[in-house]
Amino acid sequence: MELSEAMRTTGTCRHYADTPVPDEVLYDAFEVARFGPQGGNRQPVRWIVVRDEAKKKALADLYLPYWEAYYSAISDGSVGVGAVPKTIRSANEFAHNLATVPALIVVCAEVAGLHPTDAELDRISVVAGASIYPVVQNLCLALRDQGVGSAVTTLLCHEEPAVSELLGIPEGFITAAHVAVGYPRDKFPTKLNRSPVEDTVSVDSFDTPLFATES
Ligand SMILES: Cc1cc2nc3c(=O)[nH]c(=O)nc-3n(C[C@H](O)[C@H](O)[C@H](O)COP(=O)(O)O)c2cc1C
Repeated sequence: MELSEAMRTTGTCRHYADTPVPDEVLYDAFEVARFGPQGGNRQPVRWIVVRDEAKKKALADLYLPYWEAYYSAISDGSVGVGAVPKTIRSANEFAHNLATVPALIVVCAEVAGLHPTDAELDRISVVAGASIYPVVQNLCLALRDQGVGSAVTTLLCHEEPAVSELLGIPEGFITAAHVAVGYPRDKFPTKLNRSPVEDTVSVDSFDTPLFATES
């Protein structure tokens, strides 16, 4: 598959076939995902592939209350999202069926391997994630390349202590995302809904568009 096609079509997959994802397919995806960049090449990311039914159910049970709260906040307008109603419905079905996804990959990261160069600023710190999420997206692309769908979620990070206890994640490691993985029930999207380049790229100063909008 062309890289650009994979990038355009690696959408969030929320409905899965029951077919398990073979170890070889996962291996090949992890094998290429690891080439993502991380600060100082410290390679902080560890993955836990959760296939055990009881553990998936425990994770799904932890996820659902956070989804329900988020869902009602979206529904009553107190939290704004760009997603269309169909996507929200799909995310709701996903939340209620999370225990049945073929695998849930818990993304862990070693705190000592992160280097948050923005931690002292008077705003939310994001740089630690920059050593984690490139490899997560690499994983999603590598799965897509093999016909496997994925859904990156972060709501379960609220329950990091419970997840750590359930999966034996040691002190010094955090949870950064939970990625549902499986063969899609439906077709992959042909193009995702994203802002045009003209709206997001500027030159030399924040408010000078680099690319003119066609009139
Ligand atoms: C940080 C992050 C957290 C997300 N959390 C959830 C989640 O908890 N539940 C969910 O259904 N989708 C989640 N998503 C998927 C987004 O909703 C999805 O990427 C977005 O709606 C765009 O849809 P698309 O990827 O299919 O184009 C998350 C994505 C990211 C990057």
